[in-house]
Amino acid sequence: MEVFYIDDQPVPFEKGEKILSAALRAGLGIPHFCYHPALSVVATCRMCLVDVTDLGNGRPAPKLMTSCSTDAMPNMRVSTQNNKVQEGRELVMEYLLVNHPLDCPICDQSGECTLQDHSYAHGTGHSEMEYNKRVYGWRDIGTFVQLERNRCIHCSRCDRFTREITGTDEFGMFNRGHELTLDTFSDRAMTNHFQGNMADICPVGAITEKEFRFKRRAWKLRKVPSVCTGCSTGCNITIEHDRNEVLRLKPRENQDVNQWWMCDEGRLTYQQMNEREQRLAKPMGRVKGKLLQVTWQQLYDAVADRLEALKPNGEQVVALVDTHSTLEEMFLLRRLLQEVFSSDQVFYPQQDWTQPESEFFIETLITTDKTPNQAGARLLGLKGSQEHDVISAMKSAKLLLVLGNPFINEQPLLDLAGTTELMVHIASRQSEWTDQADAIFPGQNHAEKEGSFLNKQEHWQRFWPALRPSRHVRPEWQILSELLHMGTATPVQQPPQFSQIFQQMTSIEHKLFGNLALEKLGESGISLADLRQQSDTLAQTA
Ligand code: SF4
Ligand code: SF4
Ligand code: FES
Repeated sequence: MEVFYIDDQPVPFEKGEKILSAALRAGLGIPHFCYHPALSVVATCRMCLVDVTDLGNGRPAPKLMTSCSTDAMPNMRVSTQNNKVQEGRELVMEYLLVNHPLDCPICDQSGECTLQDHSYAHGTGHSEMEYNKRVYGWRDIGTFVQLERNRCIHCSRCDRFTREITGTDEFGMFNRGHELTLDTFSDRAMTNHFQGNMADICPVGAITEKEFRFKRRAWKLRKVPSVCTGCSTGCNITIEHDRNEVLRLKPRENQDVNQWWMCDEGRLTYQQMNEREQRLAKPMGRVKGKLLQVTWQQLYDAVADRLEALKPNGEQVVALVDTHSTLEEMFLLRRLLQEVFSSDQVFYPQQDWTQPESEFFIETLITTDKTPNQAGARLLGLKGSQEHDVISAMKSAKLLLVLGNPFINEQPLLDLAGTTELMVHIASRQSEWTDQADAIFPGQNHAEKEGSFLNKQEHWQRFWPALRPSRHVRPEWQILSELLHMGTATPVQQPPQFSQIFQQMTSIEHKLFGNLALEKLGESGISLADLRQQSDTLAQTA
């Protein structure tokens, strides 16, 4: 790769690459507003001005250049810090603030606003504007976002988003000069399903998410990387939380999965993470027909005693699993059935799914499978309900284990649950299964535990705990691990670590998971196809 120099530091670039893009890739900061790697270059904000002291041919550029639109050239020398650049930035900042209201104290973007940051770093704090600022009213522009036009700095990212990313072309810039403003066409609210991304890419507080408005200051939020559970795409997200409450979900860049985006429906799954009314909060056991609160130990002992009395054979043990469950949980459930009961009857609700076909990548994100791990269930060899007869298996079941809340719309299965001798429900939320259960092991929700999913393209991704769970609940992988050891001569002394369970899974299933260490999964995951290719290459070179 050829190099050019930014402040005397060599920066490699690809042919045709712009100065700003190469600088950002090299980790060098040049202030900017209108540039976004997913959008076309318009060079309208002028914030990215740099001084090209040598164009690569020994001659300087005659004036400051916008680095987002200027090609990097071999041996070019660029200064981003000299007096000329600093003076240019000061003038741009003053211009951008001519009409911008100084309402940071009541603006939701405060604390994560690029205009605020650049104004602090590059502005003078003075304005020569002697006239009143131009004032517009609030606009309700969509189901998910709201527009405060006074704060707009006309970077046009939002306009380009609906033209180039969603292809819906429903938002645009109107008028010229001092009157330039933004709005939807024909006074209609936007209908695209990705409006939250417009709030993400708006560098100021002009477009904000309705769900988040005035709920928390941005600097209060703690951020944990995670994966969206709204559908089988598994968009990479950040869970943003404060005081044990999730306030919002934001997309996390992963070029192999969701690029920079997520859908509005996925953003709303934060509500399930805060849901309290339907939570299974304490271990419960059925005593004389009534579900009563018991201790964890009492529950394990009662289940063990009941199983001792029942002595079910392999055919008499059935497990149903929700495809919201993680790979580790499915793996442990399958092991529990195989090793303790010699049964392979673990069923999951198999469904065909589709995704829209579109020339716009973002439109292909949302799938009709509203669970994050159906591919995981298939890979682990669990039985899909379309290919296996769950009802006939349930008819001879003495022990029924239900992990999560699968098949809740299938009345015949719910009816059959009442005919089993022992029904164990492991879940974080109540459902129709809860009423039928003899033993309820309360689990943790997605924001409280660790785990990994396999998305629709078999991209394997992990997530981390964000919220602090109640001390009365346990992660499902821990419950299953404890159940697995319940019948052995060596009961668990210490609760296992998630990393141990993960390691167990990847070493036992090394053909599927290539014995991968947990740390290798990283924040952006790994494609199983790539993993298999790496294992094949290693095997060939060994
Ligand atoms: S609303 Fe935001 S994204 Fe759109 S032009 Fe204004 S500042 Fe840019
Ligand atoms: S496309 Fe699917 S995975 Fe992505 S944010 Fe939407 S619901 Fe979540
Ligand atoms: S980022 Fe270059 S002009 Fe806006």
